[in-house]
Amino acid sequence: MKDKVRVCLIGCGRAGMIHARSYMGGVSGAVLAALCDPSEENLSAASVETGVSAVFSDWHDVMKDPSIDAVIVVTPTQFHRDIVIAAAEAGKHVFCEKPMASDETECDEMTEACRNHNVKLQLGFMRRFDKSFRRGKQLLEEGTVGKATLIKSNTYGPSEPKEWMYDVHKNYGPLGEVNSHDFDTVRWYAKSEVKMIHAIGGNFRSQEKAEEYPDYYDTCSVLLEFENGILGVITGAQYVRYGYDSRAEILGTTGIIKVGSQQANNAEAVTSDRVIHVDSMDSWRTLFLDAYKAEDQAFIDCIRNDTEPPVTGTDGKMALILVNESLRSLLEHRPVYLKNGLPEESR
Ligand SMILES: NC(=O)c1ccc[n+]([C@@H]2O[C@H](COP(=O)([O-])OP(=O)(O)OC[C@H]3O[C@@H](n4cnc5c(N)ncnc54)[C@H](O)[C@@H]3O)[C@@H](O)[C@H]2O)c1
Repeated sequence: MKDKVRVCLIGCGRAGMIHARSYMGGVSGAVLAALCDPSEENLSAASVETGVSAVFSDWHDVMKDPSIDAVIVVTPTQFHRDIVIAAAEAGKHVFCEKPMASDETECDEMTEACRNHNVKLQLGFMRRFDKSFRRGKQLLEEGTVGKATLIKSNTYGPSEPKEWMYDVHKNYGPLGEVNSHDFDTVRWYAKSEVKMIHAIGGNFRSQEKAEEYPDYYDTCSVLLEFENGILGVITGAQYVRYGYDSRAEILGTTGIIKVGSQQANNAEAVTSDRVIHVDSMDSWRTLFLDAYKAEDQAFIDCIRNDTEPPVTGTDGKMALILVNESLRSLLEHRPVYLKNGLPEESR
């Protein structure tokens, strides 16, 4: 084992630069050795910010460089499959952002390539590394509230949707944009696969788009039933404006665990009009900053210690299936049934 795992970041956009900053801030046992992005502008901005001078404009060239041990794949999702498989074939360990790929077949191909070439594959569900979400899991597993009965997870995002997001047949809408992490969270807490999904949604904030995009929804609610009997509820919304709101709740047989808060900090101002003022959390980038660092460290640790990554390709695939099947349920106005977590067609 080399002194340091030499990592190349592929995709230097919003999420990619969060990982770059983790490595710059010090992921022990690793060094950010190279950057790759076809956008000259993003690549050069990333190089200036990080001081990393080894740059590639084409990810195929990264695979030919024997000095790179691992890649962080943070490109638009449509490229994940090809890049991950090529990295595996080149013997490079892979961290891949969620959503893992475009469909389950691609997920299987990626997992298989990494398995066959004996490289690690870790998926980017950073909530599993967040202090509060982890503590919730620990309290549940210690039996603090008895047995789990109902698990809820919500994500509401502040931003106005980009034009491409209105077409939910090409993109998923909030189920994919904001809720993909919630699906992973409830599955992680329940330790079981989903057997029934019933999703409903509506467009409340972008009525002017309703004629052009009749299936667009900005708010949704998803009922879940797990194979072990636990119930689940996921709610999602886009363009809520008031801040980034991500919380979870585990109702047990003897108590309740509440995870997360809308407050950005613990400072309050109480004014003479008897109003309490607190800051609202602005973004996932603020809320989960430490979680991103922790997941980057976990990836390097599993390479160095030759252990199983804490979030696997199977986790990536299962979350993708839950997003897809929830959208199917929402658009077809009916419950959808799964077996062993898999949709009917792939059984
Ligand atoms: N874990 C999370 O919470 C989280 C948050 C945001 C985004 N993401 C995921 O990260 C991925 C990237 O999203 P983003 O918001 O950073 O997008 P972005 O558009 O900000 O950045 C994508 C970057 O990839 C580059 N790129 C495009 N094609 C490429 C290619 N073929 N090879 C290399 N680079 C290429 C683009 O030039 C751009 O710099 C997506 O899969 C997204 O779903 C995850």
